[in-house]
Amino acid sequence: MSDHSEKFVAAIDQGTTSSRCIIFDHGGAIVAVDQREHRQIFPKPGWVEHDATEIWSKVQAVVAGALAKAGMRADQLSALGITNQRETTVLWDRATGKPVHNAIVWQDTRTSALCTELGGTDGQDRFRDRTGLPLASYFSGPKAAWLLDNVPGLRTRAERGEIAFGTIDSWLIWNLTGGTQGGVHVTDVTNAGRTMLMNLETLEWDPAILSAMRVPEAVLPEIKSSAEVYGTAVGQLAGVPVASALGDQQAAVFGQACYETGTAKNTYGTGSFLLLNTGTRPVPSKNGLITTVGYKIGGEAPVYCLEGSIAITGALVQWFRDQLGIIRSADEIEPLAASVEDNGGAYIVPAFSGLYAPYWRADARGVITGLTRYVTKAHLARAVLEATSWQTREVVDAMYQDSGVRISTLKVDGGMTGNNLLMQHQADVLDVPVIRPRVAETTCLGAAYAAGLATGVWSDLDELKAHWQRDAEWTPRMGAPERDREYRNWRKAVERSFGWQG
Ligand code: G3P
Repeated sequence: MSDHSEKFVAAIDQGTTSSRCIIFDHGGAIVAVDQREHRQIFPKPGWVEHDATEIWSKVQAVVAGALAKAGMRADQLSALGITNQRETTVLWDRATGKPVHNAIVWQDTRTSALCTELGGTDGQDRFRDRTGLPLASYFSGPKAAWLLDNVPGLRTRAERGEIAFGTIDSWLIWNLTGGTQGGVHVTDVTNAGRTMLMNLETLEWDPAILSAMRVPEAVLPEIKSSAEVYGTAVGQLAGVPVASALGDQQAAVFGQACYETGTAKNTYGTGSFLLLNTGTRPVPSKNGLITTVGYKIGGEAPVYCLEGSIAITGALVQWFRDQLGIIRSADEIEPLAASVEDNGGAYIVPAFSGLYAPYWRADARGVITGLTRYVTKAHLARAVLEATSWQTREVVDAMYQDSGVRISTLKVDGGMTGNNLLMQHQADVLDVPVIRPRVAETTCLGAAYAAGLATGVWSDLDELKAHWQRDAEWTPRMGAPERDREYRNWRKAVERSFGWQG
């Protein structure tokens, strides 16, 4: 039971596979957590959809669950923060509140051909100087264009102002603040920046890109900062200010207290996303990273990041479990991998959605290389884990080439950081210490911090930084000759993954 005089902050993390709600106390400690999964819908190879209505009901359920576990009423919450899977695109009818189609998920590759077409003679980097992003099926703008072209009658209705577009943050905030009964239609700069429709410098929708992608302005939400009161919740959270929104990876930057230029974190979830704080000016990438807004607190200057987006890391362990059936639960991979000394010469490149950073190759497909009759399932288990650390090494190298910043330690979070063998290998292949914080739920924590800053629960970043505490650290043990040899082998395997689709 909570102390009724203290104020708390809740955060909703709407992720790719599940939604969770966490309530934090004033010291940033977790009071209660509730979590529920939602369906993954695969209508065709490469297509991934979610039912946005199901997501909204799961979110309501986890909010109720967290309040019940905390023994708390909504009026004990000072603020609510939102963080979400990024890029996933919903279009809904403003009058009925119903989505017009399943949400198209960030991993979905149906817009690959459209992206090539949009690039025209300028190619993949046509909009990079304005958006920080290469043309890739990953981002929301082409997904919205696909829906407008493929749902009968939708484009006309959208042009008449009857349809709303949103990434998941917008969809949740609109519903939380009343939906058809006056819900606010907003997004924050970190989410808007992933649509490929926002100009990184002005932080406004870019009219030339909107017209090139044929997305009518009438569907778009208003772009706000990441930490301000967007509206007041109705329903079970009635009266609670909805006071932050950040894409989940940017929320992890905030929760990991990466507030200084040169600080970085890597979150290991479905994929892995390594973000380096580059300060208040966007740094363009020449080495396959993307430039993205890290956060913007109210009227303060935005903070930018370089990001290395890796589509498949934890999802490879799921594939090893569900599709190959070699393990029964994700936890079994560590003892299986630890039963052998090395990968036996095998490497797995999990290019299931093509390869994202630093390659951005839609034509890549997964490969296993180095197979001999010596290789066992234990060696493959090792190769599954090592695929995560090598992909991370590649984005860290790109970050150094782009920014000149050599990270001295890597802060990590997310489910896979419970795997000691992987974290040790990560430290080994980067040759820097890897550090995990005590509150591993950094995504929710970041959203809660931003909401608390907006509502005066916390006064400034220094106060938040003081909460950060180290839980575990892995120091490099691998010698340079082994590291270099293994890295060469990994890169050869990556080369083999290219050129499988037109
Ligand atoms: O850009 C995609 C990313 O936001 C997904 O994160 O943790 O839900 O897999 P996650």
